[in-house]
Amino acid sequence: MRRPSQDRGGRGVAPPATAAANLTPGPAGLGGWTYAQFANELRSGKRSDGTRLWTPMADVIPFARNMTSTELQALWKDLRCVPPVGKGS
Ligand code: HEM
Repeated sequence: MRRPSQDRGGRGVAPPATAAANLTPGPAGLGGWTYAQFANELRSGKRSDGTRLWTPMADVIPFARNMTSTELQALWKDLRCVPPVGKGS
């Protein structure tokens, strides 16, 4: 499993801060993800390995759960259109 601060888009941050995830479509981001994975993670607050997302993302999940499928799909399509950044892009 990727740990926070690895392969992330932002600058390194000191613990206990958590670096935001790279959501671009490259290999360091959500390149290999399916929409189902994306939607499941935002609805459950858990990664595909069952571990919980850390704060502040954990605090976003109650709001993400209120999004309709149409809104989530629009968000996903939008994220697929941004240029990939990070390792392997
Ligand atoms: C609609 C808006 C958002 C979407 C679609 C989104 C999506 C995601 C996804 C899919 C991940 C998991 C990536 C992975 O496992 O590699 C993630 C992680 C993360 N997000 Fe968000 N996010 C959003 C808003 C935010 C906001 C507002 C913040 C900060 C205030 C934030 C901070 C983080 C952090 C710190 C992580 C890493 C959490 C961890 O690895 O435990 N996100 N985000």
